[in-house]
Amino acid sequence: MPVEPATTPALSLAVTPTATPTATPKATPAPTSTAAAGSVVLEHPAAQAMDAHPAPSGPAPGPGVAASAADPNAWTRQELSDPHTHAEKAGKVRRMFAAIAGSYDLNNRVHSLGLDQRWRRFAVAEAAVRAGDRVLDVACGTGDLTQAFAATDAAEIVGLDFTREMLELARKKQLALPAGVAGRLRYVEGDAQRLPFEDRAFDVVSIAFGIRNVENPKTALREFARVLRPGGRLVILEFDQPRNPLVRWFNSIYCRGIMPRTATWISGDKSGAYRYLPASVETFLARETLLGALREEGFSHGKASPLSLGICVCYRAVRV
Ligand SMILES: C[S@@+](CC[C@H](N)C(=O)[O-])C[C@H]1O[C@@H](n2cnc3c(N)ncnc32)[C@H](O)[C@@H]1O
Repeated sequence: MPVEPATTPALSLAVTPTATPTATPKATPAPTSTAAAGSVVLEHPAAQAMDAHPAPSGPAPGPGVAASAADPNAWTRQELSDPHTHAEKAGKVRRMFAAIAGSYDLNNRVHSLGLDQRWRRFAVAEAAVRAGDRVLDVACGTGDLTQAFAATDAAEIVGLDFTREMLELARKKQLALPAGVAGRLRYVEGDAQRLPFEDRAFDVVSIAFGIRNVENPKTALREFARVLRPGGRLVILEFDQPRNPLVRWFNSIYCRGIMPRTATWISGDKSGAYRYLPASVETFLARETLLGALREEGFSHGKASPLSLGICVCYRAVRV
């Protein structure tokens, strides 16, 4: 397992812009009331709609808890041939993360050999946060990237996710932070495709290992462009398939043959989350396609920096 991020050169935005996407930008409902003075977070119909989602039943199992019954929500082999086209992708993804929330951080550390936190720090550096900036970390999960932004001089860092169980853990971790750090963090339940914030509210938007899980990534990119001010930076961390054939072969053995077994054992998962992970990476947008989508959705200066031999990629782009 390689240890140094960003050892390979960044891939520049080299994709010829294609036609404007056929889908028209979604109308953003008007906010209903403002929050505390100085805050960019608004109460918004989209935020209220999140409360209507049914909570998944039962707590997340702890490490080593054996799967005892089939999960009717579990990914089937056929669904995993291309999970991104599944009609119920959002609901399945949400229930899946609710199921594995309790052991999510442990599995990340164990199965990335600690590299995941380095990748997040790289993403924070790429965001070039300035004093007083407002940062939105979308699909924040348990808040590891959100918290990493606290090392900067950002004035406010908002973490947003649509899985309540993940957010609860993020908030629990927030309580353990020094007051000066915790006070700059805020967590909001919401959907990446319908962000409950005003236009141009943020200087930085980030999303780590989340864009692949969003039902319609292009809709989310459009939302990121909407809430970023011109000149604002978007940073995306996402898994990828290494380009070197030998590294790709080893990575595939690990991701398909080893990791799903050990991660499932640690989490006691019955949803198929750790079979979904490699399947969703292999069928997700190629680097060049994602860079092209960024350009179509209002970003310039797109670049992709492969990390750890291309297991992970950090994308950076600037809001036009
Ligand atoms: C792999 S986790 C990543 C969590 C975190 N960013 C990290 O670095 O560990 C993916 C997260 O995306 C969230 N997610 C997926 N689709 C979403 C959506 N449409 N809106 C908000 N969150 C979403 C899931 O709930 C989950 O917490």
